[in-house]
Amino acid sequence: MPRTEFISTGFYVPERVVTNDEFTQWMDTSDEWIRTRTGIRERHWASDTQATSDLAVEAAKLALDRAGVKPADVDCIVFATLSPDYMFPGAGVYLQRKLGIGTIPCIDIRNQCTGFIYGLSVADAWIRTGQYRRVLLVGAELQSSGLDLTTRGRDLAVLFGDGAGAALLGPTEDPHRGVLSTHIYADGANAELLWCDLGGSANRPRLSADQLEKGMHWPRMVGREVFKHASTRMPESVMTALKTSGLTIQDVKLVIAHQANQRITEMVQKQLGLRDDQMYANIERYGNTTAASIPIAVDECVQSGRLVRGDLLILTAFGSGFTWGSAAIRW
Ligand SMILES: CC(C)(COP(=O)(O)OP(=O)(O)OC[C@H]1O[C@@H](n2cnc3c(N)ncnc32)[C@H](O)[C@@H]1OP(=O)(O)O)[C@@H](O)C(=O)NCCC(=O)NCCS
Repeated sequence: MPRTEFISTGFYVPERVVTNDEFTQWMDTSDEWIRTRTGIRERHWASDTQATSDLAVEAAKLALDRAGVKPADVDCIVFATLSPDYMFPGAGVYLQRKLGIGTIPCIDIRNQCTGFIYGLSVADAWIRTGQYRRVLLVGAELQSSGLDLTTRGRDLAVLFGDGAGAALLGPTEDPHRGVLSTHIYADGANAELLWCDLGGSANRPRLSADQLEKGMHWPRMVGREVFKHASTRMPESVMTALKTSGLTIQDVKLVIAHQANQRITEMVQKQLGLRDDQMYANIERYGNTTAASIPIAVDECVQSGRLVRGDLLILTAFGSGFTWGSAAIRW
């Protein structure tokens, strides 16, 4: 079976930069609190006319241009997001339409911050078995219009940012390169530690003025629990990835962990015993862009030359569900 390689990558973040200081006009917070607790200095927010698929289309076009592949040559779209344009259909079909592609399948991945790794796992299986040869994998998120910008929602509102990252994936015959493994996990026992109550089928009615009044449409989080689980599950899944391929920490060129919080990234680094140069971080500039955080970071590393052919890259993520996972890739 061939392995899956990253043919090209691309990312897009909206123009508007929102600094920590801007939040002080809406809520009781400070730049100092946000920086020291999360490592975030600023994030990008979409304009009022953009939806998630608009961010995705920019990242996807860049990835396709870099590969010299026309949209018409894509066999399948895998779209990871927790913030689709509409409740249904999923964002994948909007991306397909905006790229002007015909009737190829579009699969929507709903695994939040772990969405890109879940999507990679699915795409990798399809490519290895020969079902599809050119898979466009996208992680895109528009969080800014879904945040409670009052003091009540300050724990979450300051964390998230908007953005999109894309990768064009395909088979490589080189036995030494490509995706070596993916490992994905979930534990629904903790679903309500990071979730959004409204909009689905569990509530009667699905949406009412009373529910809105109570703020049930805003995301909620038990931050300390999320922190604890994230900083143990990610290192655990990285070790599984290495063990599966008979590799060690010394073999790793770069670990890209989902950018949730700089303190979580530092915990992951410490637990794995990684040097500073083996760990990538960009949360300072983008905040937590959920399913987009890993592909944005990957593209930055490729463009800056921090990741070159032959390097061992490890991806890991953790998020709502809880879901988590890892991928080992020989670039
Ligand atoms: C959210 C997080 C930064 C909070 O940090 P913390 O050190 O755990 O802080 P706590 O939740 O104990 O809150 C401490 C205080 O800061 C307050 N606080 C929360 N958000 C704040 C903000 N933006 N500005 C100022 N104060 C804030 C809390 O209300 C609390 O006040 P209190 O002591 O008067 O009750 C941290 O829990 C975290 O990063 N968790 C993981 C979040 C995450 O990564 N989520 C996405 C995963 S994919």
